[in-house]
This record gives sequence, C-alpha cells and structure tokens, in this order.
Amino acid sequence: MSQVKILKIIQKVCKEDVVSIAEEIQKLKQEKDAVILAHYYVPGDVQDIADYVGDSFYLSKIATKLENKSIVFAGVEFMGESAKILNPQKRVFMPDATADCPMAHMIELEDIKKVREEYPDVAVVCYINSTAETKTFSDVCVTSSNAVKIVKNLPNKNIFFIPDQNLGSYVASQVPEKNIILNPGYCPRHHQLTREQVLEAKNKYPEALFLAHPECPKSVLEEADYIGSTSGIIDYATQSDAKEFIIGTVIGVFHELKQKNPDKIFHAVSCSQVCVNMEKVTLEKVKMVLETECNEVFVSEEVRRKAMAPLKKMLEMAK
Ligand code: 13P
Ligand code: SF4
Repeated sequence: MSQVKILKIIQKVCKEDVVSIAEEIQKLKQEKDAVILAHYYVPGDVQDIADYVGDSFYLSKIATKLENKSIVFAGVEFMGESAKILNPQKRVFMPDATADCPMAHMIELEDIKKVREEYPDVAVVCYINSTAETKTFSDVCVTSSNAVKIVKNLPNKNIFFIPDQNLGSYVASQVPEKNIILNPGYCPRHHQLTREQVLEAKNKYPEALFLAHPECPKSVLEEADYIGSTSGIIDYATQSDAKEFIIGTVIGVFHELKQKNPDKIFHAVSCSQVCVNMEKVTLEKVKMVLETECNEVFVSEEVRRKAMAPLKKMLEMAK
C-alpha cells in the first residue's frame, strides 16, 4: 500500500475518533451539568467542543455568569483557580492538573513586601497569570485586554506591576503619567521573540501586517502594527482589509483566526510559538475529567476570600 493511502486511512480513523469523543463529551456534559471553557491557546479540537472560547478576561467574566454546577477549564492552572475563586459554589476541573503557566510563579512575595515598604502609596497590579497566593498580596488584577485602562484609572501614582515585565513595560509606555515599577517575570514563549526574527518575517512577507501580544519584548512591540490580547489580535485581523498577517503570539490562535478568516493568510514569527502547557489539554483528558471528576481545583477559604478582592476589582474597573 502506498504511503499516501496509509496516511489517508490514519486521517480517517483519527477523524472518526475525534467525532466519537466529542459526542461522548456532549453526553457527559449534560449528565454532569458541566460547561467547558477554553482558552485560544489550547489545541483546535478542544476549542471546537468548548461552550465558550476566549481570552483570559472574557473567560474570567463568563465564569461568573454561568448557571451550571461544574466548569471544565481547558487552560492552565491560574485560569481554573481564578474561576474557582470567583465561583466558590461551583466545582472546577482541569483536564491536565500539571498544565501551569511558568510566569505565574515569577514573583517573590518578599519583593512585594519590599516595594510596599519603599512606596507606602503603591498599588500592586497583578497580571491574572499569577498564583492565587500572589493575588492575595495584590490590590487589583488585570489581563492584557484591560491592563492599560485599569492602571490609568487607579488613583495611585506608584504602581508595582507583577509578574510580567513586558506587559508592565507596555502599560508604562501607554500610561506615562504613572511611575511603574517592573518585576523581572516573563512568558518564555513571548519573551524569546526578537526584533531580528520579526524583521526577517516582514522581509519575507512584505504585504503582511504584524500583530503582537503585549507579553512580547519592547523591541518586538515597536515593530507591531497592532498590540493586543489574543481576542484583540483575532478581532483586528478579522476586521482588517489586509489579507496577510504575521502573528506575534502563541499559534493556538491560528485555529480561530483561520475559522473566522478562511481567505486570509497567517504566518508565525518563529517555530517556537507553542505553549507546551496549553498543549497538554487534549480531548481525551476533557472526557476523562468529566467521567472521573478528578483534577478538581481547591483553594482554601482564606486564600479564596483574599484573592477574590483583586479579581472582583478588575471585573468592576474593566467595565
Ligand atoms: P490573553 O488571552 O488574555 O491575551 O492571554 C494570553 C496568555 O498568555 C494567557 O496565558
Ligand atoms: Fe503562560 Fe506564556 Fe503559556 Fe500564556 S503562553 S500560559 S503566559 S507560558
């Protein structure tokens, strides 16, 4: 049998598998009164079976409006944790309990204490990509889609922006009237992109617009035609008259970009734009947590209460 024929048989079997798992997930969801939320970075077949797909802000907002008993969060740990903090009466499950965002851990509590001592009027602004414990030491949470607006509207002159240095530096460039103190955290996927790689891609695709996530370094953002969250990037490309784009974020967004824009062309800056933690979330694991009710998210009541205040403040201030 030829290689092509074998490949076609494998593709057919895989497609049938995906369809049957998706059907089983639908049944289990009804039985358990569960809803599935998915971030744009998880694999496309998981996004396809989710009830809601979006950026971090949309998902944390929608989680507060759902009636279902359980939430399966197809994303990384801080997302499930935030959903649990905002919805203590619901059960929240993670398809993969080890899917975690490394940047969420790139802040020392000692550093927050030191900055608070040095600047008694400081507001600690915490990117939602952070642990529940870090949130308990923070004044307000932000996501990439509302950070500029929230920092602008805070009464404090001094802002300690944690944990992401790149989003912090982008906010500082947009809100020059504030004194923004940065922390050295970063997203390993976005931080490694370089201006040289962007220039090379622009050279290769001269007609393309460059759309970047604010987790990219400043030198990369300086080359961007648009800077925004994953939803922002998708909306911009969809509404733009341009036909070709270079995308400066994790390639999980290509699934929605291509679905909404079948006639447009999308390129990555480099081959390293893969979030290995988001990739851990598979259809099989979504089915498994629905079946077994394992990987439930638990947050102690004390942490939950303290971490809820900055999350609620974000939802309020982002309105
Ligand atoms: P947004 O979807 O909010 O842009 O966040 C990107 C991200 O890195 C999530 O971890
Ligand atoms: Fe964390 Fe970066 Fe993955 Fe987002 S893309 S979850 S910031 S490691």
